[in-house]
Amino acid sequence: MLDHPHAPPASPSLDERALAKALSGHHFIGGRFVAAHGRRSFAVHNPATGEEIARAAEGDAHDVATAVENAAHAQVSWARTPARKRGALVAQCAALLTEHAEELARLIALETGKALRTESRVEAGVVADILSFFGGLGSELKGESVPFAPDVLAVTVREPLGVVGAIIPWNVPMLLMALKIAPALVAGNTVVVKSAEEAPLAVLRVCELMNRILPPGCFNMLSGFGPECGAPLVEHPKVRKLTFTGSVEVGRIVARAAAEKLIPVTLELGGKSPMIVFADCDFEKTVMGAITSMRFTRQGQSCTAASRIYVERGLFERFVDALAAKVDAMVMGDPLDEKTDIGAIISPGQFEKVEGFIAEGLATPGAAARVCSAMPKDPALKKGLFLRPHIFTGLPRESRLVREEIFGPVTCVFPFDDAEAVLAEANDSEYGLAASLWTNNLKRGLDLAHRLEAGLVQINQNLVVQANLSYGGVKSSGLGKEASLEAMLEHFTHKKTIMVNYG
Ligand code: NAI
Ligand code: MG
Repeated sequence: MLDHPHAPPASPSLDERALAKALSGHHFIGGRFVAAHGRRSFAVHNPATGEEIARAAEGDAHDVATAVENAAHAQVSWARTPARKRGALVAQCAALLTEHAEELARLIALETGKALRTESRVEAGVVADILSFFGGLGSELKGESVPFAPDVLAVTVREPLGVVGAIIPWNVPMLLMALKIAPALVAGNTVVVKSAEEAPLAVLRVCELMNRILPPGCFNMLSGFGPECGAPLVEHPKVRKLTFTGSVEVGRIVARAAAEKLIPVTLELGGKSPMIVFADCDFEKTVMGAITSMRFTRQGQSCTAASRIYVERGLFERFVDALAAKVDAMVMGDPLDEKTDIGAIISPGQFEKVEGFIAEGLATPGAAARVCSAMPKDPALKKGLFLRPHIFTGLPRESRLVREEIFGPVTCVFPFDDAEAVLAEANDSEYGLAASLWTNNLKRGLDLAHRLEAGLVQINQNLVVQANLSYGGVKSSGLGKEASLEAMLEHFTHKKTIMVNYG
């Protein structure tokens, strides 16, 4: 049935290495596996060992054109499928992905180095939840009736935009993809996704599984590099909406392509998210909150990572000691081992980038770092990209570590004396994605929450993306929102006005 030499297993497979090999070398276009036009492929590595685990199809403009043509063809009948039926099919996909959740979790752990217990299983679960949430929203694609004149009925209707081009990163690839494809599909669009070159496998499996339920051509997947495969996708004239998660630099390229074509674009970019801790916080909860906020279990590879932590001076030393002790107790090791808390960094390039920041921090006069969590001892992991978490103190505010997104297990902690001063410091950033405040003084917390320049502010918690809570940044952190009903309506449909004169 499939144009594939070693078809991946039909039922859930817990042999992640065999599954990675079986997924090798293909895009998924028009309901089937398709080899790259140039038959070229590139290596996918396990970051915990350095070994090659699969080859991914290396897409080019020709592959992009084939995928977009398939998506454009499928979109005509998909848009005419009743909205609730579209939603029901997406909800069925959620059920199928739930059956495959453990398989997907193991595969994503293998290709990204994210620990199975603390990260990869969580991601697989949230993906199914996002699909099931949007699956229920088909009948919410409502328009309005507008009072205009006697004998004139004026209404607005929500229509899909057409083919959506989605470009995703490697840090939480399945989840970030789900935030794009689920609302796009339920709203009657079809999608072409370009996966991240570091993590093309689990998203390809998700695509194949969902294509068992969706009509062919509604959801297509390409793998390849940014300039060769991503750029032709964003520039393709039949792609009528762009949605991107990744770096600010590439976000600007995508936004420029959207401007050239005059089409809408959603961007989820980087962050330098502040965490503000007042002395009246619940201490234990806040220390644990710093660990989850900083996403140490994801090696800090998160756009919402609390990479600037401001602690009221009276609590500063105690807080840094407690945080360092807790991070130190975390187990770094084989991502597929149930005991592991912290896995490996995604790629040698990212590893070097983070090491560069660390070296610069350590060389800064007055700065010091607590270096936590022991390196793994298993000889099988000796080529793995393991990097010990660093908690810096004493860095000057103008340091690159304080201003730029590191996207690694590195945070900077500062003491503060005054709420107004710390607010100004928190807002003194190019970014504005997320922030958290830790205090039992709700009056002060709410006041600051309103004045922080961020798309998402949480008080006394720092949860990851949740279905139906709009998610997205301000300033250089992005444009538009994801995850909610409003996000689907505003970013994946346009409103058409229809008037009937029956006088
Ligand atoms: P990136 O922005 O280069 O890659 C993200 C996606 O964009 C990938 O699929 C890539 O192939 C694609 N891409 C790259 N160049 C393109 C182009 N010219 N046209 C179209 N698509 C293109 O991010 P990268 O290199 O993986 O990471 C660099 C930094 O970006 C990280 O260190 C981190 O600071 C930030 N980042 C932020 C993320 C977030 O969640 N907001 C996710 C990943 C990275
Ligand atoms: Mg890049």
